[in-house]
Formats: sequence, C-alpha cells, structure tokens
Amino acid sequence: MERTFIMVKPDGVQRNLVGEIVSRFEQKGFKLVGAKLMQIPNELAEEHYGEHKDKPFFGELTSFITSGPVFAMVWEGENVITTARKMMGATNPAESDIGTIRGDYGLTVGKNVIHGSDSPESAEREIGLFFSEGGQVDYTKDA
Ligand code: CMP
Repeated sequence: MERTFIMVKPDGVQRNLVGEIVSRFEQKGFKLVGAKLMQIPNELAEEHYGEHKDKPFFGELTSFITSGPVFAMVWEGENVITTARKMMGATNPAESDIGTIRGDYGLTVGKNVIHGSDSPESAEREIGLFFSEGGQVDYTKDA
C-alpha cells in the first residue's frame, strides 16, 4: 500500500493546526502510520530541500523550516500521494482552492502550513530521511 510523507510546518504548529490537519487525513480515510513532533536540524533541512538549493529562496526556506517544531507524519492509503497533494492545494496559497488546507489556512508561499511528497520517489526519499530510525507502525485499521 502506498505511503507518503506529510509535514505540518512551523507556522501550522504555531497556529494550532496540527489537530485540524490530522483530522482531515483521518476523515478522508487514510491511515496514520508514523508521527512525531520535532525540531529539524539544519543539515536535514538542507537535504530535504536539496532540489531547491540553487533557488533564490533556499536560505529563507531552510531558516523557516528550522525556526520551530514541525509535525512529521507518514500516511498510508490508496493513491495517498496524489490525493494528499489535492487535499493540500497549490503551493502558493493565493492560487490554492478554498476547501484545501493551504487555501483555507495559508497566506504566503513561504509560510504555507504543510508539505507533502510530490511523487513516489520523493515519498520514499523523505520518509527515509525523517523516519530512518524507525517510528512507522504496521497495524490493521477497520474503518
Ligand atoms: P514545499 O511543498 O514545502 O516545497 C518547497 C517549498 O518552497 C514550498 O513548499 C514553498 O513553501 C517554498 N517556496 C516556493 N517558492 C518560494 C518562494 N518564492 N519564496 C519562499 N519560499 C518558497
């Protein structure tokens, strides 16, 4: 079954949106198989966002993501990678539809509340980066 990496960013944790975001994924029917509140070390931030290292906003991006705790999660379910991207909405909250997480709670492209893997390759890489020491739980969920 497919798994994806989802992270409530520092602005989402500060604004008490962890419960709301977890709830949306639960209600959609996905299964939570890993979760932790953590402060991202600089090296992990640079590796996680490695594909953006030549972008002008890279410094801003890594300093923001390390500025406070994030809530890192692994969610499992059919087509969870694509569906989670739809639930999050477009990267820039100015363009994301109302009803999506970023459309409802985000204001700027930098502080856009949530991150989610954009492909099966990214999901595998990001889950590996954030849950390398374990923390994923296999269990049966009836509903
Ligand atoms: P995310 O899905 O975490 O992946 C890369 C992030 O870069 C993206 O969400 C945005 O928050 C951030 N980002 C993209 N464009 C900009 C920008 N112009 N300025 C600051 N941050 C950006």
